[in-house]
Amino acid sequence: MNDSNFVNEINKRRTFAIISHPDAGKTTITEKVLLFGQALQVAGTVKGKKSGQHAKSDWMEMEKERGISVTTSVMQFPYRDHLVNLLDTPGHEDFSEDTYRTLTAVDSCLMVIDAAKGVEDRTRKLMEVTRLRDTPIITFMNKLDRDIRDPLELLDEVETELNIACAPITWPIGCGKLFKGVYHLHRDETILYQSGLGHMIQDVRIIKGLSNPELDDAVGSDLAGQLRDELELVIGASNEFDLELFLDGQITPVYFGTALGNFGVDHMLDGLTEWAPAPQGRETQARKVEPLESKFSGFVFKIQANMDPKHRDRIAFCRIVSGKYQKGMKMRHTRIGKDVRISDALTFLAGDRALLEEAYAGDIIGLHNHGSMRIGDTFTQGEDFTFSGIPNFAPELFKRIRLKDPLKQKQLQKGLIQLSEEGAVQVFRPLINNDLIVGAVGVLQFDVVVARLKAEYNVEAIYEHVNVATARWIYGDDKKVDEIRRKAEVNIAIDGANNLTYIAPTMVNLSLAQERHPDITFAATREQ
Ligand code: G4P
Repeated sequence: MNDSNFVNEINKRRTFAIISHPDAGKTTITEKVLLFGQALQVAGTVKGKKSGQHAKSDWMEMEKERGISVTTSVMQFPYRDHLVNLLDTPGHEDFSEDTYRTLTAVDSCLMVIDAAKGVEDRTRKLMEVTRLRDTPIITFMNKLDRDIRDPLELLDEVETELNIACAPITWPIGCGKLFKGVYHLHRDETILYQSGLGHMIQDVRIIKGLSNPELDDAVGSDLAGQLRDELELVIGASNEFDLELFLDGQITPVYFGTALGNFGVDHMLDGLTEWAPAPQGRETQARKVEPLESKFSGFVFKIQANMDPKHRDRIAFCRIVSGKYQKGMKMRHTRIGKDVRISDALTFLAGDRALLEEAYAGDIIGLHNHGSMRIGDTFTQGEDFTFSGIPNFAPELFKRIRLKDPLKQKQLQKGLIQLSEEGAVQVFRPLINNDLIVGAVGVLQFDVVVARLKAEYNVEAIYEHVNVATARWIYGDDKKVDEIRRKAEVNIAIDGANNLTYIAPTMVNLSLAQERHPDITFAATREQ
């Protein structure tokens, strides 16, 4: 392959994920995005809670029963001159640490906000995670076909609550039953909305120019007048889009539309492909690795067990950071210093697993894993380094786990530690007793762990309440660490990778501990 082709392949890629609060419209927007990418013939096959149809990416019995997607699946599709990788982020009860870690494997994020509700809790949390790497954010204000809040107030809320400046790219004309479309500030044109055509790509009517009298005819002179007045205010009061600030994560372009009505999604995709960054480099302990380096490298950000019930294997999701994967190539698994030949990497097209001939920086490939791979593992073409920035996140939910048959304590420990290495859950062992405390970011992780302990380790376990509200990894010089171990022994535990952790019964207790031990770092994330 010649060099310009290699550079072109990488530069045309855009790898992003959607962040949103449950029910804001992530699944619906994913469907429409895939429709534009021609990955789906008819929108509506990603998830159909009502129709009983299951997501293409559903894989486990549990998922089928609950009609939700536990998997962070990857969807690749072409859009105009680009190749887009959309990484799905588990969102409802299936929210988990994988959701957070997926955000470390993308180069930009789409934030979907329900415009009737504004900034919600989960979005706040996910935005915090994107701040770790200053990931560029694109915003879609959804559900304009309903009565929404004042758009200016929404922008203000995003700016103050999420600490990111807003640059509206489109502006809505009416909402709810009176939603007429949007005015595109950069193109100086009005794009008219037609209801009832959400399942298809529409032929839209476009009116050039804000003062065009056709606009008054099309939307009515009241709404046209209101639009002109609002725009004067918006242009005066909001920020202009600035590419550098966007790439720095300081400003977000904002689009308005309705995912259900399939309106505005393409405007957002145009912005995403034009402005969102091509695959970005990543830091290692030794040096920064750039995407256009000729040698392959990548890191594992997620491990998925039993994706296909017929294959009882695990798949490690690997983000390619540099170079290119080619079928049959030799890769170095740097943590264990072993070379492996990979001829059966997988790609994912809306849940279909397909064997892959080649893949480039920015892509996600699935590596078959028989237990040797962990979250954060690095693969290279010979060089020994490890990518940083793929952390564990402090759990937010805790339970004590107990065996039904007390003789199987060893299997239980082994199972839990392996599952924690896979990132399915975290495990903490207090210094003062023999408890095993399981920590998770989302509730479903607890069920997954009990199901997998039974299926894979033949261990039947149950949960009990435990009085832990939060955990922090603790670091400091040896003397200070010894001191906190002595003085707060009841609150100290060892995690699955033998790191010291402070487990706090309440947030107030944590603040007090931080005050009492000012020389100790209480970290909410831990590098692998
Ligand atoms: P999520 O993945 O973020 O949780 O949201 P999802 O797309 O499932 O959307 C949540 C609900 O909001 C769905 O309705 C969906 O149809 C609706 N929705 C999404 N986008 C729009 C929009 O632009 N306008 C309107 N009016 N509704 C929208 P549901 O009845 O809860 O679920 P379903 O059974 O239709 O899937």
